[in-house]
Amino acid sequence: MLKLSQMATAVALVVAGSAAMAGEVEVLHWWTSGGEAKSVAELKKIMQGKGHTWKDFAVAGGAGDNAMTVLKSRVVAGNPPAAAQIKGPAIQEWAAEGVLANLDATAKAEKWDSLLPKVVADIMKYKGNYVAAPVNVHRVNWMWANKAVLDKAGVKSTPKTWDEFFAAADKIKKAGLIPVAHGGQNWQDFTTFESVVLGVGGAKFYNDALVKLDQKALTSDTMKKSLETFRKIKGYIDPAAPGRDWNLATAMVIKGEAAFQFMGDWAKGEFAAAGKVPGKDYICAAAPGTANAYTFNVDSFAMFKLKDAGAQKAQGDLAASIMGTEFQEVFNLNKGSIPVRLNMKMDKFDDCAKLSAKDFVDTAKAGTLEPSIAHGMAVKPAAEGAIKDAVSQFWNDDKISVADGIKNIAKAAQAQ
Ligand code: GAL
Repeated sequence: MLKLSQMATAVALVVAGSAAMAGEVEVLHWWTSGGEAKSVAELKKIMQGKGHTWKDFAVAGGAGDNAMTVLKSRVVAGNPPAAAQIKGPAIQEWAAEGVLANLDATAKAEKWDSLLPKVVADIMKYKGNYVAAPVNVHRVNWMWANKAVLDKAGVKSTPKTWDEFFAAADKIKKAGLIPVAHGGQNWQDFTTFESVVLGVGGAKFYNDALVKLDQKALTSDTMKKSLETFRKIKGYIDPAAPGRDWNLATAMVIKGEAAFQFMGDWAKGEFAAAGKVPGKDYICAAAPGTANAYTFNVDSFAMFKLKDAGAQKAQGDLAASIMGTEFQEVFNLNKGSIPVRLNMKMDKFDDCAKLSAKDFVDTAKAGTLEPSIAHGMAVKPAAEGAIKDAVSQFWNDDKISVADGIKNIAKAAQAQ
């Protein structure tokens, strides 16, 4: 039996111990749509379950442009969050600034090297050390369709080529419905654009033009055809698209106001949050001409160097939780993506996710797995931003000729 004074000391030790072990994590992200918010809430729950305090730092704006601007000002002010959603080559740029924490201890203990596809692990490492934890794999080259709208317009099968797509779009227009739900931000234009380039030119062309930024590919006839196809799609959107958020465009397809949307599978998170079932209420199909290729978008969190021991412990727990099986399943079920961790059971996932998982593996083998340029996976942020602007200007201004559009994009690709 402990004496009272001994007990008091023991209690004090336990309290002090847990105070040192628990910490606050401030997490910067841009997951504010219905499906996104449900997904990130799962991470919060897991962290709270470990005794940590979650400080939500959500900056609205699809694809994270606003979030990245806010992040820069916080880091410059010497007050970084504990973790931030940072992806692709941008991870390298942040790490080169010397502000990111080394996650190797967690990665080693949790065996990340054997649990991640190499293509993903490489993105998460700076000079061989892990500096970010991957969350998921989103596929970008999807086309979403409302089944009832297709039936109503007499579209018998989901279009597999761009010619079939435009034939279907004409039928939908005739039936008095909006063929394509589109929003009004440059990254949405860019998302559609990359799927068009992939569909028109194929994976090798996509890689030459939008990953290697090869000037010959960027100024080729295939790019001309891509821009012509891209512009043609604009004829099938509604006049209220400017300024519209991506999830509101998805809602148009969910409600049967529009037939199609070109968007990554975070759109599926919106269908799921609305209780819609793939195959029955809606269709997920590869964007026309892209069934044998896959543009990937891996979300990840980087941690910033912090002095407080509790905060450091919380960061380690956050990184471990992100790669844990519990989170990988529940988060991705809500988010529309697939687990990034290898060998996860897929039985709870729907057919779209199963197709994504299969195609991820198959396209990696076939050499047609490509990083998404519109979602920060393919090139450095400066070039990405410049090309995105050029593509969006072309989309929004019909007076820019295809020849000038090509020139502008090729020039933007030289941005450092
Ligand atoms: C992407 C991000 C996704 C998704 C989308 C829209 O860039 O990787 O997780 O949420 O933006 O906000």
